[in-house]
Amino acid sequence: MILRRFQAQGLRNLAPLELSFPPRVSLIHGSNGSGKTSLLEAVYTLATGRSFRSNRLASVLNYSAEALTLFGEVVHDSGRVLRLGVTRQASGAGVLKVDGERVSSNRPLAEALPVLLIHPESMNLIMGSPEQRRRFLDWGVFHVEQHFGSVATTFRRTLDHRNAALRTRSRDLESWTRQFAVVAEQVHEAREQYVERLRLPLQIALEQLQGVAGVAVRYQPGWDRRRTLREALAEQLELDRQSGFTRSGPQRAELRFDIEGRKASECLSRGQQKVLACALLLAQNALLKQSRGSGAVVLVDDLAAELDEAHRQRLASALMDQRGQILMTAVEPELVLNGLSFADEIALFHVEQGEITPS
Ligand SMILES: Nc1ncnc2c1ncn2[C@@H]1O[C@H](COP(=O)(O)OP(=O)(O)O)[C@@H](O)[C@H]1O
Ligand SMILES: [Mg+2]
Repeated sequence: MILRRFQAQGLRNLAPLELSFPPRVSLIHGSNGSGKTSLLEAVYTLATGRSFRSNRLASVLNYSAEALTLFGEVVHDSGRVLRLGVTRQASGAGVLKVDGERVSSNRPLAEALPVLLIHPESMNLIMGSPEQRRRFLDWGVFHVEQHFGSVATTFRRTLDHRNAALRTRSRDLESWTRQFAVVAEQVHEAREQYVERLRLPLQIALEQLQGVAGVAVRYQPGWDRRRTLREALAEQLELDRQSGFTRSGPQRAELRFDIEGRKASECLSRGQQKVLACALLLAQNALLKQSRGSGAVVLVDDLAAELDEAHRQRLASALMDQRGQILMTAVEPELVLNGLSFADEIALFHVEQGEITPS
C-alpha cells in the first residue's frame, strides 16, 4: 500500500502543494522552520484525523487560511485506489471523507492508510505515560485484527457508562459492570496475544539496530490475574464508588520493558530509549506486513535526532529492508545518505520558502 498523490492547502507555513510520492523512499530536506515536519504532520493527519504535534487540529491550519484541506490517493497492492480527504474550517467544523463519502469517525481513514511515526520524541513510548504504550498496543491490534476497532469503541463507551454509574450511584451499575467485564476480557486477550506475536520481530529488530540488549517485555493487564476481573471489580467496588472511576481493567494496563530487572526508562540513555522505540515500531510494521501482506507508510521526522551515525545507518537500512513506503525528513540530506548503499534509490524533495520541489 502506498500514498501515491498528496495535496494540501492551508497547511501551516506551506503554500498549496501537490506531490507525487514514489513507492519507496522520499527524503524531504530543508533548513529549520522550512516546513518539513508540517508535511509529515499533514500526511499523519490525513491518516488519523489528528495531528501528532498538537491536540488541536486548528493549530495545523495556516494563521490566515479559512480552511485546511488534505487529500490523498492511496493505492493498495490489489490495485484498488482509495481517495481520502480531511477538511478543517477555521470556524471549527471538520469533515472526513473516503472516496467522496463522508465518514463519521477516523477509523476508515486509519484502515485505508496505516501510518507509523518515528520522530524526535519517539523515546516517549518508553519513558512517557502508560497511555502511550496502550495506544501503541491498540494500534497494532487494530491493524491486524479487523474487528478490534469496534471492540475498543464498545470498551471505551462501557467504561464511561460504568464510571458515570459509579458517580451517580445509579441502579444500572451492576449491569454496566457485567458488560464492562465481558468486553474488557476481549480487549485484554487481543492485546495479550499481540504482545506474544510481537516478541520475535522485536528481537530481530533489536539485533538489526544493536546497542540495546536483554530487553524483557511484560504485559500487565490492569488487574491481579489471580482473580477474574469480576472478582477484582467486586473487591474494589467501595473504592471505585468513592473515587468515581474504575480501578481495574485494560484502561490500567501497562507494557513493561525491563533490562536485568530494571525499568528501561530508568536505565537506558535517551538515545537508547529511542533505539528501543524504533525497534518496537519496526517490529509492529513487520507484524502488520506478515498478517496483512503490506506494511504501513512509515513517517520518519528528523531521522538523525538523538541517534549516532552508526544507529542512523542501521535504522535506515532496517527501514529499507521492510520494503514499504517511507517519507523521511532531514536538515542535512548528506547525514542520512552518507554511507547508505541504496542512496540512489531515494527521491529528494527540497522545502524552501513554503514551496516543496523535487530536487
Ligand atoms: N499555523 C501556522 N500558520 C503559519 N505558519 C506556521 C503555523 N504553525 C507553524 N508555523 C511556521 O511553520 C514553519 C515550519 O515549521 P516546521 O514544519 O516545524 O519546520 P521544520 O520541520 O522544517 O523545521 C515554522 O517556521 C513555524 O513558525
Ligand atoms: Mg521539524
